[in-house]
Amino acid sequence: MKTFTAKNVTFGSGIPKIAVPLTDDRPEELIKSAAAARNEADLVELRIDPYLARQAEETGGPGELTKLLAGVRAAFDGPVLFTLRTAAEGGLYEVTDAKYREILAEAAESGCVDLLDIEFARETAAAAAEDAAKAGIPVVFSQHDFKRTPGADAILGTFMEMERAGAAIAKGAYMPENGADVDEVIRASGLAGEQLSIPFILIAMGEKGRITRMHGEIFGSCLTFAFLGGRASAPGQIGADVMRAELGKIHEAGMRKGFIFLIGFMGTGKSACARAIRRNSGLPVLEMDETIEERQGMPVSRIFKTQGEEAFRDMETELLESLYGQESAVVSCGGGVVLRERNRRLMRGLGTIVLLTASPETIYSRLQGKTGNRPNIRDRFSVEGIRELMEVRRAAYMAAADVMIPTDGLSPRKIAEKILSERESGNFV
Ligand code: S3P
Repeated sequence: MKTFTAKNVTFGSGIPKIAVPLTDDRPEELIKSAAAARNEADLVELRIDPYLARQAEETGGPGELTKLLAGVRAAFDGPVLFTLRTAAEGGLYEVTDAKYREILAEAAESGCVDLLDIEFARETAAAAAEDAAKAGIPVVFSQHDFKRTPGADAILGTFMEMERAGAAIAKGAYMPENGADVDEVIRASGLAGEQLSIPFILIAMGEKGRITRMHGEIFGSCLTFAFLGGRASAPGQIGADVMRAELGKIHEAGMRKGFIFLIGFMGTGKSACARAIRRNSGLPVLEMDETIEERQGMPVSRIFKTQGEEAFRDMETELLESLYGQESAVVSCGGGVVLRERNRRLMRGLGTIVLLTASPETIYSRLQGKTGNRPNIRDRFSVEGIRELMEVRRAAYMAAADVMIPTDGLSPRKIAEKILSERESGNFV
């Protein structure tokens, strides 16, 4: 992927950059906030719509925009992104296409902004981008949807169009209805990373999508928005100081890549094998199911019964997120952890993923009398039931795995030796 640099800040490589949105509605406050962002932000996003809305109410016009831009430029030493977020895309100002273009052109020509956000769906997007190009200002084409999340392929298609239309950076921000939508955004990030040649920003908004704001280094987003002074400009944003600390942890863990994740169907021997790896390597063991049970104070079967499977899956995702910033370990995963794209990507950012497999017959014999706390197999416990569920999950297991080890007829000690010798010989990190 190509990078993009504005005022010595490079987007698209290393730790994602932090943008602090300035959302005050009075010039003096905007300038004060810009100054406060000096040591906290890599970039400020001057969200001009609150100011314009207030001006329109008080004076009927946009006021002295260029003077305000000069003030912000003087107060903040890094790049300034100028954004007029209209009501249709979650902003505060309703505006005609002609007016939209006029305001953006004034900003582009002011010499006081480094990047211009243009809402891609607007009629005037292409014309506004031409104005920006004439003034020598690069463009972030953006798409926002506060109601729904498009499919990953549709997001990629939009990003490709943005690239063709001359964007320096492509941005998409969507409201997820459920976990599957968050995964769709993360899948889109994967596709964009492979197929786009410009940096991009992809956000699932709201509490559910928070993971996309923090894990840009893993998912591919080059910029994340975080607030100063307690005011978020979009749902799900977190404070800039917390964000900086989290980004640092994620970066360090990504450099180390010290974890080993054992994934695989129930009964493939993940726990026994994790213990054997501990004996041979000294890596501590983390049992995902047990850790969740301890935190919740109840067995997995009860969590499924009282809170549902989706809630249990959220607990798994949270646990994986919390591993960033912790000592490396060998992690014995629950059999269903791989079902979520975001879990697969979180694990990959931390280390190596080893898939243990076994035939349905082997699993059937290993799980005899041990299905009480395994709600996903308890009610269909037969070789056929195991085979069916395995088939449903095969693609997810394969998509997650760095290394695959068939375990039929192998002792946990032998499997551990295999994994550690591959690790030592550099076959995986
Ligand atoms: C599950 C597997 C279990 C446990 C939960 C769900 C699954 O872990 O996380 O019962 O959906 O495959 P084990 O693979 O350790 O049994």
